[in-house]
Amino acid sequence: MPSQLESLKKHSLVVADSGDIDAVARWKPQDATTNPSLLLASAQDPRYRAFLDADLDRMAVNFGREILKHVAGRVSTEVDARLSFDTEKSIEKARKFISLYEKAGTSRERILIKLASTWEGIRAAEKLEREGIRCNLTLLFSFAQAVACAEAGVTLISPFVGRIYDWYKAAKKVDDLPLEEDPGVASVVRIYNYYKRHGYKTQVMGASFRKTGQILNLAGCDLLTIAPDLLEKLAASQAPVEKVLSVEKAKSMNIAKVSLDEKAFRWEHNEDAMATEKLAEGIRKFDADARKLEKVVASALAAAPA
Ligand code: E4P
Repeated sequence: MPSQLESLKKHSLVVADSGDIDAVARWKPQDATTNPSLLLASAQDPRYRAFLDADLDRMAVNFGREILKHVAGRVSTEVDARLSFDTEKSIEKARKFISLYEKAGTSRERILIKLASTWEGIRAAEKLEREGIRCNLTLLFSFAQAVACAEAGVTLISPFVGRIYDWYKAAKKVDDLPLEEDPGVASVVRIYNYYKRHGYKTQVMGASFRKTGQILNLAGCDLLTIAPDLLEKLAASQAPVEKVLSVEKAKSMNIAKVSLDEKAFRWEHNEDAMATEKLAEGIRKFDADARKLEKVVASALAAAPA
């Protein structure tokens, strides 16, 4: 009997959500994603001491290149959260990452530049895509963010499941939400069906999972990025995996197409209290972890210079 992980791989491209190089090597996913919080964890791990660099961009590239040794596809490298509201600086940072990767011999086809799905981040991605720099729009919580990303022609979006689930659990003061009522899963289903129904090329990568049921209820999504502990659980189970999402089903649905200019985007996103709070909090948290990372790296390098 195949494991759930093997069965899931027949329906969706499985990605490792980790900065832990050994974990990526173990799971041999197609792609891998990192974020500032994952890099903070890895930077404190003595196994990865050799990749530390006082220049955090260089360090992110060091980790990215090492991860790429274990995946056939792409790695996502995230732009500093402080630039989330600055289109021009986000573009500069993305170009810097690509230049560092290319100088080290890694082609841009293997890199996804991760940017927060703010209006400014989406505009940066639109421009970068025209230069052949592929983007992964992250911290995506609202349908408005998804519509704007598709209209901008970005390569990939990462709609978050777990953080939406966290917000609704806290709002409803409950310990769990059943899968059939899970608003994080429902958000990805809605976005996937909308994209496929209207023929958008932007790929949907479900992210931020809290339990395997959330992942399995999205089987068929283009990609799913999964943390090592959940990959482990999927590998340990042999229960059957049904394909839930499909292009054919989506194409037969009656879903109206929408278009959002900046004012409409801001209005629609702001109408969604969960998305507004989670996007703001996500930017604050990634920034806080990046600042911690600066300190961790500076003290590690001071204690034992490379
Ligand atoms: C991946 O791209 C995201 O950064 C990640 O899935 C976020 O997960 P979290 O909500 O568990 O931090």
